[in-house]
Amino acid sequence: MEQLMRNFFLFLSKNKTLTKLAKKYGLRFGAARFVAGIDIDHAAEKIKEINRDGFVVTVDHLGEFNDNEKEAIESADECIHAIEVIAEKGLDSELSLKMTSMGLDISYDLVMKNMRRILDAGRKHNVTVTIDMEDFERYQKTLNIFKELKKEYDNLGTVLQAYLYRVEEDLQDLNEYNPYLRLVKGAYKESPEVAFPEKKDVDENYKKIIKMNLLNGNYTAIATHDDAVIEYTKQLEKEHDIPREQFEFQMLFGIRLELQKRLVEEGYKMRVYVPYGKDWYGYNMRRLAERPANVLFVLKGIFKK
Ligand code: FDA
Repeated sequence: MEQLMRNFFLFLSKNKTLTKLAKKYGLRFGAARFVAGIDIDHAAEKIKEINRDGFVVTVDHLGEFNDNEKEAIESADECIHAIEVIAEKGLDSELSLKMTSMGLDISYDLVMKNMRRILDAGRKHNVTVTIDMEDFERYQKTLNIFKELKKEYDNLGTVLQAYLYRVEEDLQDLNEYNPYLRLVKGAYKESPEVAFPEKKDVDENYKKIIKMNLLNGNYTAIATHDDAVIEYTKQLEKEHDIPREQFEFQMLFGIRLELQKRLVEEGYKMRVYVPYGKDWYGYNMRRLAERPANVLFVLKGIFKK
């Protein structure tokens, strides 16, 4: 039953008509639990509070699967604006973004143009930019863009997904770039031809790549809400004397707040991924797919005036 619900929410997450409708109607259906506001000014207030509580942030202007050039350029403009607000208000925040919001489904040149503008702004204001990883259809293209831009920009990171069979190879392949990598389990519905269908295999592979990347000496963001993986990372830290400056934990805004606090109290760097914007729909559906129990929040959202 749970698997059916997951698939259902992942199917909904890709529906373009619902995505467009959702944009019109502001934050609905419990989205405010996972999304910091519809614009950067609202998000900046939240980020300030989050920073005050001892967390660092990566802010994400929601948007994906843009299929027209004008919207992709506007998305890039919004990212630059977010970087400027981060700098003006002295927020401790990086920026995360998706290649499909920059026009990946339209043209490579458009993405590169948009990305260079954003990375220039990031460089000017000392803000690191992380490219989120999307579905497998766009995986190789996203990696290629990352490699190309990494030659020009230091302030760039990306994400690798543990559910992919090929992730170990990609992690080794990226080693020469001395990359800032965020490691995650993976949030999209992928075919068993490319990704482990069983959660226990994903969890094992996740631990394996965390260990590999840390022992490679690369900065590693361990982006998970899973207690077992967090405990495993702490063990690695002890066993291999890994300095705390070499890794951080990351979690999504609104998820497992007590655990987030505990890690800060224990002296770990804890980064909160804070999404904002009108395009909350696909993001929200993926959060529901990860934990169908969250549907209760959605139902409350529907019935609350
Ligand atoms: P898992 O799903 O096993 O959950 C472990 C426990 O965490 C659960 O038992 C539950 O208690 C809690 N939990 C997990 N999800 C929850 C939720 N939605 N609501 C409430 N509790 C929840 N993916 C991707 O494909 N590309 C990307 O670029 C990113 N980027 C990214 C950034 C950051 C900062 C994070 C934290 C995650 C991502 N992800 C991602 C998502 C990631 O791939 C994965 O889908 C989620 O993190 C859920 O997996 P966990 O590792 O938390 O473990």
